[in-house]
Amino acid sequence: MIEAHNLKKVYRSRNVETTALRNISLKIRRGEFVMILGRSGCGKSTLLNILGGIDSPTEGSCRFLGRELGKMNRRQLALFRNKKVGFVFQAYHLIDELDAIRNVELPLGYAGIRHSLRREKAEEALQMVGLEERMHFYPTQLSGGQQQRVAIARAIVNNPDVILADEPTGNLDEENCSSIMELLTQLNENGSTIVMVTHDNSLTQYASRVIHIRDGEVAEGDLR
Ligand SMILES: Nc1ncnc2c1ncn2[C@@H]1O[C@H](COP(=O)(O)OP(=O)(O)O)[C@@H](O)[C@H]1O
Ligand SMILES: [Mg+2]
Repeated sequence: MIEAHNLKKVYRSRNVETTALRNISLKIRRGEFVMILGRSGCGKSTLLNILGGIDSPTEGSCRFLGRELGKMNRRQLALFRNKKVGFVFQAYHLIDELDAIRNVELPLGYAGIRHSLRREKAEEALQMVGLEERMHFYPTQLSGGQQQRVAIARAIVNNPDVILADEPTGNLDEENCSSIMELLTQLNENGSTIVMVTHDNSLTQYASRVIHIRDGEVAEGDLR
């Protein structure tokens, strides 16, 4: 489903160059729960952002369902992200001025889905993450774990081909961390393809495959 070839990413700011990705090739197949594991600063977020079309590589290419992301213009990329990808971030990134259900409805608005259907789909997504009773709560009225559930509902509401999660449990205590990991596992069992990045070794038990990243490269032994 996703094929990345020889991705390289160099950040240039003033006179400093940082090589975030040296040379990364990988494939993600439909139905997998892939965990990308590596230390802080090794390039995980950069990689995930490139796979999801948020960022572009300095060199190399990324194909998503056969389409070359590098050949899409801004509008096509925005549409691609909206329809095909559900992002989940460490810090939830909910909009504080909107209640849970309106946060979840947001991507449906961009997708041009009519209002009555939006509500229905958003309710369904909140049900899947076990938060239907809190749909009119605002983010500040929800715990971290609950906010991440809302963010996951927002990520799945458009029925994306893949969920890309960047340290989704990074801000949570152990109990909330397990419950978010169980939720992701359940979504994967129901057919969602998931790519998650983390620095936390203990979470690899949830994955169907682990890719180790070191200094912007896939570690030896993981090359395939
Ligand atoms: N926008 C940016 N500008 C300059 N350097 C960056 C930028 N984003 C990330 N980097 C650098 O690229 C490297 C990889 O960062 P990142 O992908 O965020 O790693 P990780 O998510 O594994 O912690 C780090 O050295 C980081 O400082
Ligand atoms: Mg990161």
